[in-house]
Amino acid sequence: MGFFFRDAYLADSELADVERRVAELSVEIRRHNALYYQQDQPEIGDAEYDALLRELAALEAAHPELLRPDSPTQRVGAPVLATGFKTAPHRTPMLSLDNAMDADELRAFDQRIRRMLGRDEELEYVGEPKLDGSGVELVYREGRFHQGLTRGDGRMGEDVSANLLEIPSIPRQIETSDSAPPELASIRGEVVLPLPAFHRLNAGRRERELEPFANPRNAAAGSLRQIHDIDLERLRSLEFRAYAMAEGRPESHTTQWEALETLRSWGFAVSPESQVCSGVEGASSFYALLMERRSDLDVEIDGAVLKVNLLDLQEDLGSVARSPRWAIAYKFPPEQATTRVEGIDVQVGRTGALTPVAKLEPVRVGGVTVSNATLHNQDEIDRKDIRVGDTVVIQRAGDVIPQIVRIVLADREQQLEGGSVFERYRLPEACPICEGTTIRLDGESVTRCPNLDCPAQLKNNLRHLAGRDALDVDGLGEKLVEQLVESGLVSRLSDLFTLQAEALEGLERMGAKSAANLVASLEKAKSTTLPRVLIALGIPHVGATMAEVLAQHFLDLEPLMSASASEIENIEGVGPTIAESVARFFEDRANRDELKRLVSLGVQWAPPEPSAPNPEGSLAGKSFVLTGTLSAPRGEIKQRIEAAGGKVLGSLSKKTDYLVAGEKPGGKLQKARDLEIEILGEEDLEALI
Ligand code: IVH
Repeated sequence: MGFFFRDAYLADSELADVERRVAELSVEIRRHNALYYQQDQPEIGDAEYDALLRELAALEAAHPELLRPDSPTQRVGAPVLATGFKTAPHRTPMLSLDNAMDADELRAFDQRIRRMLGRDEELEYVGEPKLDGSGVELVYREGRFHQGLTRGDGRMGEDVSANLLEIPSIPRQIETSDSAPPELASIRGEVVLPLPAFHRLNAGRRERELEPFANPRNAAAGSLRQIHDIDLERLRSLEFRAYAMAEGRPESHTTQWEALETLRSWGFAVSPESQVCSGVEGASSFYALLMERRSDLDVEIDGAVLKVNLLDLQEDLGSVARSPRWAIAYKFPPEQATTRVEGIDVQVGRTGALTPVAKLEPVRVGGVTVSNATLHNQDEIDRKDIRVGDTVVIQRAGDVIPQIVRIVLADREQQLEGGSVFERYRLPEACPICEGTTIRLDGESVTRCPNLDCPAQLKNNLRHLAGRDALDVDGLGEKLVEQLVESGLVSRLSDLFTLQAEALEGLERMGAKSAANLVASLEKAKSTTLPRVLIALGIPHVGATMAEVLAQHFLDLEPLMSASASEIENIEGVGPTIAESVARFFEDRANRDELKRLVSLGVQWAPPEPSAPNPEGSLAGKSFVLTGTLSAPRGEIKQRIEAAGGKVLGSLSKKTDYLVAGEKPGGKLQKARDLEIEILGEEDLEALI
């Protein structure tokens, strides 16, 4: 009896712990799914992700009562985002693959399926490289390309047909020589970005000061889902490799190998490394061979896929929720190493964002010596609890700056016993470049230096100030900004308006005429409007729409500068983050001084014209919020909406009628969904107008 109670008690508390962990893991995995599949911006490596998923699967297997139908172990990927692509169902679900991490797990897989099939003799497998790209389904009707979908959540994908058709290795027409093409063929494969093209595209991006792609997989997935301003070079650099035929297989087929051969004969590229392997030993040798050849391949692969060759046996084995029982991905070990954090430095980016960087004891990983790893932001440091002196596991994947996977806690504990001190790290309160007070807005992960004249940001801020939507200074391009700052002629924004032609003539390749032109453009730019001034200041979150809203409300700069965050938040269309951002910007002493100086140097504006709504327009009475990159400057789109009687607000509330989402829509998209606000693409907006 006593035992019984004790056991029951133990089981209860244990179960509560397990339940908590299952919930925790589910939340965490869903977050990583969204980062990976929807934002193409993974925070962790595959190995770390797999470890989370496996831990969850193991807990669910031991406690089936905790398995929920919506568990991440039961689904593939993440639901597609309403980015503007139409969605469509896959004809048969696009499944994922179960993983084996080492030889034992491969052997266990082989034994498991042989037991299920009741076979003593060895199985024949097809070994293929596990391509690290983006899975897609191509549908052909009567041999003609009909539709192409991303994997999405496995059931529904995004229709990216138009983009797929730009990929040179995707045939528009299946080439059959001896028979008619099948009425319907569903071909599965991976869209990959070959490494030479990946390096070329990234070199171009660095040149244009764009964030390089983290790895070929993200670059491929992102390229495939381009919706506006489509970069054809990116699309045409992609390649499609076929690895399965879900429908349309010739009846005579009995093996996966035949399917690959047929795909090749139909005009598809099939991984040339694929092989028939006999038994688990053959599969192991194939894996070893691939690992050896990995660095010579022109596409990134992250393991081997082993598929039971006989289709009948595949059918007998069937599938579980996320993956078929007849195939397994035998993953390569991640490129990881262990080292020590010697210090944490802070870099200030061009936009004022402070990025902590771990200084590491140099270590070789994935063929290069690594001595720095980005720590992203304060949240990331807190989440992983990284402190100076810690031993850490780092990982390099693709072209990514190395990441710290985790700390080795046991090592810290041991050192603590020896009397070492490990202090929690906090990002500095003073900008390491200009010593201005740094800020972090509620709900944001970035810590920033808000100082307009911070040398780290000056060039960027000057370019922004000269931009089309801002003061529109003709002739003040990137090169010139560079020269002005490097020569010391401009060391704060307002210095621009002190420039004299004689001084400018001293710059390289600057003739008297260009110098006079620049001085004239600056003079012209001084007479401007209040919204343009607000845009020119580059206040985080204040773009064209918000600048207009603030200008309409305050009519002049003085009242805005002295308004508190809560006063600003009371304005219709202004949310709390923006309000705080504006208030904090003007609280900064250096920014106020800079504004005063701009005004004393002649920057001036007339009071804004009140905007009169057009009660007759097609959008009369409707309110809109804009997000993401749109095909025209925000100001222009706003004008179109207003001309049709609509109102454009800066932030979403329950009362907003529509969210217009461009490319890279950010957090507003989710918020709109949460508030059940209708989401429009630009074309939908045009249609409404
Ligand atoms: S077969 C039902 N073969 O890996 C079988 N998938 O982790 C599922 N992948 O969604 C696909 N190389 O996008 C297969 N040779 C290969 C593959 C491959 C890469 C991808 C595919 C899949 C994911 C599963």
